[in-house]
Amino acid sequence: MDQTNYSYHIRYSFFKTISEVATDMQVQAFVIGGFVRDILLDRDCTDVDIVTSGDGILLAEECAKRLKVKKVAVFKTFGTAMFHFHEWQLEFVGARKESYSSDSRNPAVTPGTLEDDQLRRDFTINALALGLNEADFGILIDPFLGRSDLDAGLIRTPLDPAITFTDDPLRMMRAIRFATQLDFRIVPGTLEAISANAKRISIISKERISDELNKILLTKKPSIGFLLLEETGLLELIFPQLRALKGAEYIDGKGHKDNFRHTLEVVDRIAPNTDNLWLRWSALLHDIAKPVTKRFDTETGWTFHGHEFKGMKMIPSIFASLKLPMNEKMKYVQKMVQLHLRPIVLSEEEVTDSAVRRLLFEAGEDIDDLMTLCEADITSKNAEKVKRYMKNFEIVRQKLKEIEEKDKLRNWQPPVSGELIMETFGIEPCKTVGIIKTAIREAILEGEIHNEFGEAYQFMLVAGKSLGLVPVNQ
Ligand code: CTP
Repeated sequence: MDQTNYSYHIRYSFFKTISEVATDMQVQAFVIGGFVRDILLDRDCTDVDIVTSGDGILLAEECAKRLKVKKVAVFKTFGTAMFHFHEWQLEFVGARKESYSSDSRNPAVTPGTLEDDQLRRDFTINALALGLNEADFGILIDPFLGRSDLDAGLIRTPLDPAITFTDDPLRMMRAIRFATQLDFRIVPGTLEAISANAKRISIISKERISDELNKILLTKKPSIGFLLLEETGLLELIFPQLRALKGAEYIDGKGHKDNFRHTLEVVDRIAPNTDNLWLRWSALLHDIAKPVTKRFDTETGWTFHGHEFKGMKMIPSIFASLKLPMNEKMKYVQKMVQLHLRPIVLSEEEVTDSAVRRLLFEAGEDIDDLMTLCEADITSKNAEKVKRYMKNFEIVRQKLKEIEEKDKLRNWQPPVSGELIMETFGIEPCKTVGIIKTAIREAILEGEIHNEFGEAYQFMLVAGKSLGLVPVNQ
Protein backbone atom coordinates (compact mmCIF):
# COMPACT_ATOMS: atom_id res chain seq x y z
CA MET A 1 0.00 0.00 0.00
CA ASP A 2 1.15 3.51 -0.84
CA GLN A 3 1.97 5.17 2.49
CA THR A 4 2.78 8.54 0.96
CA ASN A 5 0.78 11.42 2.31
CA TYR A 6 -0.39 13.65 -0.48
CA SER A 7 -1.65 16.48 1.71
CA TYR A 8 0.79 18.86 0.01
CA HIS A 9 -1.16 18.40 -3.23
CA ILE A 10 -4.41 19.30 -1.51
CA ARG A 11 -3.04 22.18 0.52
CA TYR A 12 -5.58 24.65 -0.91
CA SER A 13 -7.81 26.28 1.69
CA PHE A 14 -11.03 24.92 0.19
CA PHE A 15 -9.93 21.33 0.88
CA LYS A 16 -9.52 22.24 4.56
CA THR A 17 -13.01 23.73 4.51
CA ILE A 18 -14.48 20.58 2.92
CA SER A 19 -12.66 18.55 5.55
CA GLU A 20 -14.11 20.62 8.40
CA VAL A 21 -17.63 20.60 6.98
CA ALA A 22 -17.50 16.82 6.42
CA THR A 23 -16.38 16.31 10.03
CA ASP A 24 -19.15 18.58 11.33
CA MET A 25 -21.72 16.74 9.23
CA GLN A 26 -20.28 13.40 10.33
CA VAL A 27 -19.76 12.17 6.79
CA GLN A 28 -16.70 11.12 4.87
CA ALA A 29 -15.39 13.07 1.91
CA PHE A 30 -12.84 12.21 -0.75
CA VAL A 31 -11.37 13.93 -3.76
CA ILE A 32 -11.50 11.49 -6.65
CA GLY A 33 -10.96 10.94 -10.37
CA GLY A 34 -9.18 13.21 -12.84
CA PHE A 35 -7.92 15.65 -10.22
CA VAL A 36 -6.06 12.93 -8.30
CA ARG A 37 -4.73 11.41 -11.53
CA ASP A 38 -3.47 14.78 -12.69
CA ILE A 39 -1.76 15.85 -9.46
CA LEU A 40 0.09 12.53 -9.39
CA LEU A 41 1.18 13.20 -12.97
CA ASP A 42 2.14 16.77 -12.15
CA ARG A 43 -0.47 18.10 -14.55
CA ASP A 44 -2.60 21.15 -13.84
CA CYS A 45 -6.22 20.42 -13.11
CA THR A 46 -8.88 22.81 -11.87
CA ASP A 47 -11.86 20.42 -11.97
CA VAL A 48 -12.27 18.89 -8.54
CA ASP A 49 -14.66 15.98 -7.97
CA ILE A 50 -15.67 15.29 -4.40
CA VAL A 51 -17.39 12.08 -3.33
CA THR A 52 -19.06 11.76 0.03
CA SER A 53 -20.62 9.00 2.08
CA GLY A 54 -23.38 11.52 2.82
CA ASP A 55 -25.56 13.69 0.64
CA GLY A 56 -23.51 15.43 -2.10
CA ILE A 57 -25.92 18.33 -2.46
CA LEU A 58 -26.03 19.11 1.27
CA LEU A 59 -22.24 18.91 1.55
CA ALA A 60 -21.84 21.25 -1.44
CA GLU A 61 -24.32 23.77 -0.05
CA GLU A 62 -22.65 23.87 3.36
CA CYS A 63 -19.14 24.14 1.85
CA ALA A 64 -20.29 26.95 -0.44
CA LYS A 65 -21.75 28.80 2.55
CA ARG A 66 -18.48 28.61 4.48
CA LEU A 67 -16.44 29.62 1.42
CA LYS A 68 -18.85 32.55 0.92
CA VAL A 69 -19.82 31.30 -2.52
CA LYS A 70 -23.38 32.38 -3.37
CA LYS A 71 -24.18 30.41 -6.49
CA VAL A 72 -24.51 26.63 -6.29
CA ALA A 73 -25.83 24.69 -9.29
CA VAL A 74 -27.90 21.76 -8.03
CA PHE A 75 -28.84 18.81 -10.24
CA LYS A 76 -31.43 17.03 -8.14
CA THR A 77 -32.05 14.15 -10.56
CA PHE A 78 -28.35 13.26 -10.54
CA GLY A 79 -27.82 14.07 -6.83
CA THR A 80 -24.94 16.37 -7.71
CA ALA A 81 -24.10 20.00 -7.01
CA MET A 82 -21.40 22.25 -8.35
CA PHE A 83 -19.92 25.65 -7.65
CA HIS A 84 -16.93 27.74 -8.62
CA PHE A 85 -14.35 28.97 -6.13
CA HIS A 86 -11.75 31.23 -7.72
CA GLU A 87 -10.31 29.23 -10.63
CA TRP A 88 -11.61 25.94 -9.26
CA GLN A 89 -14.73 24.08 -10.23
CA LEU A 90 -15.93 21.87 -7.42
CA GLU A 91 -18.44 19.12 -8.03
CA PHE A 92 -20.01 17.08 -5.22
CA VAL A 93 -21.80 13.75 -5.35
CA GLY A 94 -22.78 11.01 -2.94
CA ALA A 95 -20.88 7.72 -3.39
CA ARG A 96 -22.94 5.41 -5.56
CA LYS A 97 -23.36 2.11 -7.25
CA GLU A 98 -24.62 2.38 -10.75
CA SER A 99 -26.25 0.10 -13.20
CA TYR A 100 -26.92 1.06 -16.75
CA SER A 101 -29.59 0.03 -19.21
CA SER A 102 -28.44 -1.24 -22.59
CA ASP A 103 -29.90 1.55 -24.72
CA SER A 104 -28.77 4.60 -22.84
CA ARG A 105 -25.80 6.03 -21.01
CA ASN A 106 -27.96 7.28 -18.16
CA PRO A 107 -27.40 5.15 -15.11
CA ALA A 108 -29.90 4.12 -12.49
CA VAL A 109 -28.24 5.31 -9.30
CA THR A 110 -28.30 3.73 -5.85
CA PRO A 111 -26.15 4.79 -2.88
CA GLY A 112 -22.96 2.81 -2.36
CA THR A 113 -19.60 2.80 -0.60
CA LEU A 114 -16.51 4.61 -1.81
CA GLU A 115 -15.24 1.34 -3.24
CA ASP A 116 -18.49 0.77 -5.16
CA ASP A 117 -18.05 4.23 -6.55
CA GLN A 118 -14.43 3.62 -7.55
CA LEU A 119 -15.31 0.30 -9.15
CA ARG A 120 -17.89 1.89 -11.45
CA ARG A 121 -15.41 4.44 -12.80
CA ASP A 122 -13.85 4.08 -16.23
CA PHE A 123 -10.15 3.38 -15.60
CA THR A 124 -8.01 2.47 -12.62
CA ILE A 125 -6.03 5.70 -13.08
CA ASN A 126 -9.33 7.61 -12.82
CA ALA A 127 -10.51 5.68 -9.77
CA LEU A 128 -7.91 7.01 -7.36
CA ALA A 129 -9.16 8.89 -4.29
CA LEU A 130 -7.56 10.93 -1.52
CA GLY A 131 -9.12 11.10 1.92
CA LEU A 132 -10.26 14.52 3.10
CA ASN A 133 -11.32 13.80 6.68
CA GLU A 134 -8.92 14.55 9.50
CA ALA A 135 -7.97 10.91 10.03
CA ASP A 136 -7.10 10.22 6.40
CA PHE A 137 -6.35 13.67 4.97
CA GLY A 138 -4.10 13.23 1.93
CA ILE A 139 -4.05 9.40 2.13
CA LEU A 140 -4.39 7.60 -1.19
CA ILE A 141 -7.26 5.12 -1.41
CA ASP A 142 -6.46 2.86 -4.30
CA PRO A 143 -8.22 -0.54 -4.20
CA PHE A 144 -7.75 -1.16 -7.95
CA LEU A 145 -4.03 -0.38 -8.12
CA GLY A 146 -4.41 2.74 -10.21
CA ARG A 147 -1.17 4.15 -8.81
CA SER A 148 0.90 1.33 -10.27
CA ASP A 149 -0.94 1.63 -13.61
CA LEU A 150 -0.18 5.34 -13.56
CA ASP A 151 3.50 4.62 -12.97
CA ALA A 152 3.57 1.94 -15.68
CA GLY A 153 1.58 4.06 -18.15
CA LEU A 154 -1.36 1.68 -18.47
CA ILE A 155 -5.05 2.18 -19.21
CA ARG A 156 -7.10 -0.57 -17.57
CA THR A 157 -10.70 -0.79 -16.41
CA PRO A 158 -11.32 -1.58 -12.72
CA LEU A 159 -14.14 -3.95 -13.67
CA ASP A 160 -14.32 -6.53 -16.43
CA PRO A 161 -13.86 -4.19 -19.44
CA ALA A 162 -16.86 -5.68 -21.22
CA ILE A 163 -19.04 -4.40 -18.37
CA THR A 164 -17.33 -1.00 -18.14
CA PHE A 165 -17.76 -0.40 -21.89
CA THR A 166 -21.28 -1.78 -22.08
CA ASP A 167 -22.22 0.52 -19.20
CA ASP A 168 -20.93 3.55 -21.07
CA PRO A 169 -19.53 3.08 -24.59
CA LEU A 170 -18.09 6.62 -24.62
CA ARG A 171 -15.40 5.15 -22.40
CA MET A 172 -13.97 3.33 -25.42
CA MET A 173 -13.22 6.71 -26.94
CA ARG A 174 -11.97 7.98 -23.59
CA ALA A 175 -9.55 5.04 -23.28
CA ILE A 176 -8.05 5.91 -26.64
CA ARG A 177 -8.03 9.61 -25.86
CA PHE A 178 -6.19 9.08 -22.55
CA ALA A 179 -3.72 6.72 -24.22
CA THR A 180 -2.99 9.50 -26.72
CA GLN A 181 -2.89 12.41 -24.27
CA LEU A 182 -0.72 10.61 -21.73
CA ASP A 183 1.16 8.39 -24.17
CA PHE A 184 -0.08 5.35 -22.22
CA ARG A 185 -0.73 1.83 -23.42
CA ILE A 186 -4.18 0.23 -23.24
CA VAL A 187 -3.75 -3.20 -21.64
CA PRO A 188 -4.59 -6.08 -24.04
CA GLY A 189 -7.81 -7.20 -22.30
CA THR A 190 -9.18 -3.67 -22.31
CA LEU A 191 -8.17 -3.09 -25.92
CA GLU A 192 -9.80 -6.34 -27.03
CA ALA A 193 -12.99 -5.35 -25.24
CA ILE A 194 -13.05 -2.09 -27.22
CA SER A 195 -12.91 -4.04 -30.49
CA ALA A 196 -15.57 -6.43 -29.27
CA ASN A 197 -17.93 -3.64 -28.15
CA ALA A 198 -17.15 -1.06 -30.85
CA LYS A 199 -20.65 -1.23 -32.34
CA ARG A 200 -22.15 0.07 -29.13
CA ILE A 201 -20.66 3.47 -29.90
CA SER A 202 -23.87 4.01 -31.87
CA ILE A 203 -25.74 5.02 -28.70
CA ILE A 204 -23.31 7.88 -28.04
CA SER A 205 -24.15 11.35 -29.29
CA LYS A 206 -22.07 12.75 -32.13
CA GLU A 207 -21.17 15.79 -30.03
CA ARG A 208 -19.51 13.64 -27.39
CA ILE A 209 -17.66 11.64 -30.01
CA SER A 210 -16.30 14.76 -31.67
CA ASP A 211 -15.37 16.15 -28.29
CA GLU A 212 -13.06 13.17 -27.88
CA LEU A 213 -11.81 13.49 -31.46
CA ASN A 214 -10.97 17.13 -30.79
CA LYS A 215 -9.08 16.17 -27.66
CA ILE A 216 -7.13 13.54 -29.58
CA LEU A 217 -6.36 16.05 -32.32
CA LEU A 218 -5.05 18.55 -29.77
CA THR A 219 -2.46 16.15 -28.32
CA LYS A 220 1.24 16.13 -29.10
CA LYS A 221 0.96 13.01 -31.24
CA PRO A 222 -2.61 12.54 -32.53
CA SER A 223 -1.63 9.56 -34.70
CA ILE A 224 -1.56 7.36 -31.58
CA GLY A 225 -5.30 7.87 -31.15
CA PHE A 226 -6.30 7.57 -34.79
CA LEU A 227 -4.32 4.34 -35.19
CA LEU A 228 -6.06 2.90 -32.13
CA LEU A 229 -9.46 4.02 -33.42
CA GLU A 230 -8.69 2.25 -36.68
CA GLU A 231 -7.32 -0.88 -35.05
CA THR A 232 -10.37 -1.32 -32.81
CA GLY A 233 -12.88 -0.77 -35.62
CA LEU A 234 -14.25 2.43 -34.07
CA LEU A 235 -12.98 4.64 -36.89
CA GLU A 236 -15.00 2.82 -39.53
CA LEU A 237 -18.11 3.43 -37.44
CA ILE A 238 -17.60 7.04 -36.43
CA PHE A 239 -15.63 8.47 -39.35
CA PRO A 240 -15.72 6.16 -42.38
CA GLN A 241 -14.36 8.82 -44.75
CA LEU A 242 -11.09 8.89 -42.80
CA ARG A 243 -10.91 5.10 -42.65
CA ALA A 244 -11.34 5.00 -46.44
CA LEU A 245 -7.89 6.58 -46.81
CA LYS A 246 -6.26 3.41 -45.51
CA GLY A 247 -4.38 1.05 -47.73
CA ALA A 248 -2.58 1.10 -51.03
CA GLU A 249 -3.86 -0.36 -54.26
CA TYR A 250 -1.57 -1.95 -56.85
CA ILE A 251 -2.13 -2.23 -60.59
CA ASP A 252 0.60 -3.48 -62.93
CA GLY A 253 2.97 -3.46 -59.98
CA LYS A 254 2.37 0.25 -59.44
CA GLY A 255 1.05 1.32 -56.05
CA HIS A 256 0.23 4.57 -54.37
CA LYS A 257 1.08 5.60 -50.84
CA ASP A 258 -1.20 4.72 -47.94
CA ASN A 259 -3.04 7.99 -47.53
CA PHE A 260 -4.16 7.18 -44.00
CA ARG A 261 -0.55 6.86 -42.81
CA HIS A 262 0.41 9.95 -44.78
CA THR A 263 -2.48 11.95 -43.27
CA LEU A 264 -1.51 10.93 -39.76
CA GLU A 265 2.07 11.90 -40.44
CA VAL A 266 0.92 15.33 -41.59
CA VAL A 267 -1.21 15.75 -38.45
CA ASP A 268 1.74 14.77 -36.23
CA ARG A 269 4.04 17.08 -38.17
CA ILE A 270 1.72 20.06 -37.83
CA ALA A 271 1.14 19.51 -34.08
CA PRO A 272 4.36 21.18 -32.84
CA ASN A 273 3.66 24.21 -35.05
CA THR A 274 0.07 25.01 -34.12
CA ASP A 275 -2.49 24.64 -31.36
CA ASN A 276 -5.23 25.82 -33.67
CA LEU A 277 -7.74 22.96 -33.60
CA TRP A 278 -9.13 23.89 -37.01
CA LEU A 279 -5.74 23.92 -38.66
CA ARG A 280 -5.23 20.44 -37.21
CA TRP A 281 -8.63 19.43 -38.62
CA SER A 282 -7.47 20.81 -41.98
CA ALA A 283 -4.40 18.58 -41.78
CA LEU A 284 -6.62 15.59 -40.99
CA LEU A 285 -8.93 16.34 -43.91
CA HIS A 286 -6.54 17.71 -46.52
CA ASP A 287 -6.54 14.51 -48.60
CA ILE A 288 -10.00 13.27 -47.61
CA ALA A 289 -11.17 13.09 -51.22
CA LYS A 290 -8.27 10.98 -52.44
CA PRO A 291 -10.25 7.71 -52.37
CA VAL A 292 -13.09 9.17 -54.41
CA THR A 293 -10.86 10.89 -56.98
CA LYS A 294 -8.40 8.02 -57.39
CA ARG A 295 -7.79 6.90 -61.01
CA PHE A 296 -5.26 4.63 -62.64
CA ASP A 297 -3.73 5.53 -65.93
CA THR A 298 -1.34 3.12 -67.67
CA GLU A 299 1.01 5.96 -68.52
CA THR A 300 0.97 8.21 -65.50
CA GLY A 301 0.03 5.65 -62.83
CA TRP A 302 -2.18 6.72 -59.92
CA THR A 303 -3.70 10.19 -59.92
CA PHE A 304 -5.98 12.04 -57.53
CA HIS A 305 -6.94 14.94 -59.78
CA GLY A 306 -9.13 17.56 -58.16
CA HIS A 307 -9.00 15.96 -54.71
CA GLU A 308 -8.48 19.38 -53.15
CA PHE A 309 -11.68 20.72 -54.70
CA LYS A 310 -13.72 17.59 -54.08
CA GLY A 311 -12.34 17.50 -50.51
CA MET A 312 -13.49 21.06 -49.92
CA LYS A 313 -16.95 20.02 -51.13
CA MET A 314 -17.06 16.98 -48.80
CA ILE A 315 -16.38 18.98 -45.67
CA PRO A 316 -19.90 20.28 -44.92
CA SER A 317 -21.35 16.77 -44.85
CA ILE A 318 -18.47 15.51 -42.67
CA PHE A 319 -18.90 18.43 -40.28
CA ALA A 320 -22.66 17.90 -40.21
CA SER A 321 -22.35 14.18 -39.50
CA LEU A 322 -19.87 14.79 -36.67
CA LYS A 323 -21.90 17.77 -35.38
CA LEU A 324 -18.89 20.03 -35.73
CA PRO A 325 -19.64 23.75 -36.09
CA MET A 326 -21.06 24.63 -39.51
CA ASN A 327 -19.77 28.20 -39.32
CA GLU A 328 -16.64 30.18 -40.17
CA LYS A 329 -14.50 27.40 -38.64
CA MET A 330 -15.81 25.01 -41.26
CA LYS A 331 -15.28 27.59 -44.01
CA TYR A 332 -11.71 28.00 -42.82
CA VAL A 333 -11.11 24.23 -43.05
CA GLN A 334 -12.68 24.23 -46.52
CA LYS A 335 -10.36 27.01 -47.61
CA MET A 336 -7.29 25.22 -46.26
CA VAL A 337 -8.25 21.95 -47.97
CA GLN A 338 -9.01 23.67 -51.26
CA LEU A 339 -5.75 25.62 -51.29
CA HIS A 340 -3.43 23.01 -49.79
CA LEU A 341 -1.64 22.23 -53.05
CA ARG A 342 -1.19 25.78 -54.21
CA PRO A 343 2.07 26.70 -52.44
CA ILE A 344 3.62 23.41 -53.63
CA VAL A 345 2.57 23.99 -57.21
CA LEU A 346 3.79 27.54 -56.91
CA SER A 347 7.17 26.48 -55.60
CA GLU A 348 7.58 23.93 -58.39
CA GLU A 349 7.22 26.59 -61.06
CA GLU A 350 9.00 29.87 -61.27
CA VAL A 351 7.57 31.92 -58.42
CA THR A 352 6.02 34.86 -60.26
CA ASP A 353 4.66 37.95 -58.53
CA SER A 354 1.21 37.52 -60.01
CA ALA A 355 0.93 33.87 -58.82
CA VAL A 356 1.93 34.96 -55.32
CA ARG A 357 -0.55 37.84 -55.47
CA ARG A 358 -3.34 35.43 -56.41
CA LEU A 359 -2.48 33.10 -53.55
CA LEU A 360 -2.41 35.99 -51.10
CA PHE A 361 -5.73 37.21 -52.42
CA GLU A 362 -7.39 33.81 -52.04
CA ALA A 363 -5.89 32.80 -48.71
CA GLY A 364 -6.25 36.27 -47.17
CA GLU A 365 -5.37 36.40 -43.50
CA ASP A 366 -4.99 32.60 -43.38
CA ILE A 367 -1.93 32.54 -45.63
CA ASP A 368 0.50 31.73 -42.79
CA ASP A 369 -1.67 28.81 -41.67
CA LEU A 370 -1.76 27.55 -45.25
CA MET A 371 2.03 27.63 -45.42
CA THR A 372 2.21 25.74 -42.10
CA LEU A 373 -0.10 23.07 -43.53
CA CYS A 374 1.90 22.78 -46.75
CA GLU A 375 5.16 22.38 -44.92
CA ALA A 376 3.65 19.62 -42.77
CA ASP A 377 2.39 17.94 -45.97
CA ILE A 378 5.94 17.22 -47.15
CA THR A 379 6.39 13.70 -45.84
CA SER A 380 8.67 12.34 -48.54
CA LYS A 381 11.43 10.05 -47.32
CA ASN A 382 13.70 11.41 -50.03
CA ALA A 383 15.89 13.88 -48.14
CA GLU A 384 16.96 15.68 -51.33
CA LYS A 385 13.37 16.24 -52.35
CA VAL A 386 12.40 17.50 -48.91
CA LYS A 387 15.31 19.91 -48.92
CA ARG A 388 14.28 21.23 -52.32
CA TYR A 389 10.66 21.73 -51.27
CA MET A 390 11.62 23.46 -48.05
CA LYS A 391 13.98 25.76 -49.91
CA ASN A 392 11.25 26.60 -52.40
CA PHE A 393 8.80 27.27 -49.59
CA GLU A 394 11.33 29.66 -48.13
CA ILE A 395 11.31 31.52 -51.45
CA VAL A 396 7.50 31.52 -51.53
CA ARG A 397 7.38 32.88 -47.97
CA GLN A 398 9.92 35.57 -48.83
CA LYS A 399 7.95 36.56 -51.94
CA LEU A 400 4.72 36.58 -49.97
CA LYS A 401 6.29 38.99 -47.52
CA GLU A 402 7.59 41.30 -50.23
CA ILE A 403 4.32 41.37 -52.16
CA GLU A 404 2.27 41.79 -49.02
CA GLU A 405 4.36 44.77 -47.99
CA LYS A 406 4.05 46.28 -51.44
CA ASP A 407 0.47 45.44 -52.37
CA LYS A 408 -1.31 44.89 -49.03
CA LEU A 409 -3.44 42.10 -50.47
CA ARG A 410 -4.21 40.36 -47.22
CA ASN A 411 -7.88 41.05 -46.39
CA TRP A 412 -8.18 42.74 -49.74
CA GLN A 413 -10.95 45.25 -50.19
CA PRO A 414 -11.56 46.57 -53.72
CA PRO A 415 -10.03 50.07 -53.89
CA VAL A 416 -13.00 51.15 -56.04
CA SER A 417 -16.41 50.11 -54.75
CA GLY A 418 -19.44 48.99 -56.76
CA GLU A 419 -21.27 52.11 -55.54
CA LEU A 420 -18.60 54.38 -56.97
CA ILE A 421 -18.74 52.57 -60.32
CA MET A 422 -22.53 53.05 -60.47
CA GLU A 423 -22.26 56.68 -59.41
CA THR A 424 -19.50 57.46 -61.92
CA PHE A 425 -21.38 56.04 -64.88
CA GLY A 426 -24.88 56.76 -63.62
CA ILE A 427 -25.98 53.13 -63.80
CA GLU A 428 -28.16 50.91 -61.64
CA PRO A 429 -26.88 47.61 -60.12
CA CYS A 430 -26.27 45.31 -63.07
CA LYS A 431 -23.84 42.77 -64.54
CA THR A 432 -21.60 45.50 -65.94
CA VAL A 433 -20.68 46.67 -62.42
CA GLY A 434 -19.42 43.17 -61.66
CA ILE A 435 -17.48 43.03 -64.93
CA ILE A 436 -15.68 46.29 -64.13
CA LYS A 437 -14.95 45.19 -60.54
CA THR A 438 -13.48 41.91 -61.76
CA ALA A 439 -11.39 43.71 -64.39
CA ILE A 440 -9.93 45.99 -61.70
CA ARG A 441 -9.14 43.00 -59.45
CA GLU A 442 -7.49 41.12 -62.31
CA ALA A 443 -5.40 44.14 -63.24
CA ILE A 444 -4.17 44.39 -59.65
CA LEU A 445 -3.43 40.66 -59.39
CA GLU A 446 -1.59 40.69 -62.72
CA GLY A 447 0.45 43.66 -61.55
CA GLU A 448 -0.82 45.99 -64.29
CA ILE A 449 -1.86 48.57 -61.73
CA HIS A 450 -1.08 49.08 -58.05
CA ASN A 451 -3.53 48.21 -55.35
CA GLU A 452 -4.50 51.82 -54.67
CA PHE A 453 -7.42 54.12 -55.36
CA GLY A 454 -5.88 56.53 -57.94
CA GLU A 455 -4.72 53.88 -60.39
CA ALA A 456 -7.83 51.77 -59.86
CA TYR A 457 -10.07 54.79 -60.54
CA GLN A 458 -8.29 55.60 -63.79
CA PHE A 459 -8.49 51.93 -64.78
CA MET A 460 -12.23 51.94 -64.06
CA LEU A 461 -12.77 54.95 -66.38
CA VAL A 462 -10.97 53.18 -69.21
CA ALA A 463 -12.75 49.86 -68.55
CA GLY A 464 -16.15 51.61 -68.46
CA LYS A 465 -15.50 53.46 -71.70
CA SER A 466 -14.50 50.24 -73.43
CA LEU A 467 -17.93 48.90 -72.45
CA GLY A 468 -19.63 51.93 -73.98
CA LEU A 469 -20.23 53.79 -70.70
CA VAL A 470 -19.74 57.52 -70.27
CA PRO A 471 -18.99 59.13 -66.91
CA VAL A 472 -21.95 61.33 -65.85
CA ASN A 473 -19.94 64.45 -65.01
CA GLN A 474 -18.27 64.76 -68.40
N1 CTP B 1 -15.81 9.04 -15.50
C1 CTP B 1 -16.18 7.75 -15.82
N2 CTP B 1 -16.76 7.48 -17.04
C2 CTP B 1 -16.99 8.47 -17.92
C3 CTP B 1 -16.62 9.79 -17.60
C4 CTP B 1 -16.04 10.03 -16.37
O1 CTP B 1 -15.96 6.85 -15.04
N3 CTP B 1 -17.55 8.20 -19.08
C5 CTP B 1 -15.24 9.31 -14.17
C6 CTP B 1 -13.73 9.15 -14.10
O2 CTP B 1 -13.42 8.73 -12.80
C7 CTP B 1 -13.22 10.56 -14.35
C8 CTP B 1 -14.26 11.38 -13.61
O3 CTP B 1 -15.48 10.67 -13.82
O4 CTP B 1 -11.92 10.77 -13.82
C9 CTP B 1 -14.38 12.80 -14.11
O5 CTP B 1 -14.74 12.81 -15.47
P1 CTP B 1 -14.32 13.95 -16.47
O6 CTP B 1 -14.27 15.26 -15.76
O7 CTP B 1 -15.18 13.82 -17.67
O8 CTP B 1 -12.91 13.49 -16.97
P2 CTP B 1 -11.47 13.59 -16.35
O9 CTP B 1 -11.03 12.21 -16.01
O10 CTP B 1 -11.40 14.59 -15.25
O11 CTP B 1 -10.59 14.03 -17.60
P3 CTP B 1 -10.89 15.17 -18.68
O12 CTP B 1 -11.26 16.40 -17.94
O13 CTP B 1 -9.61 15.24 -19.42
O14 CTP B 1 -12.00 14.63 -19.52
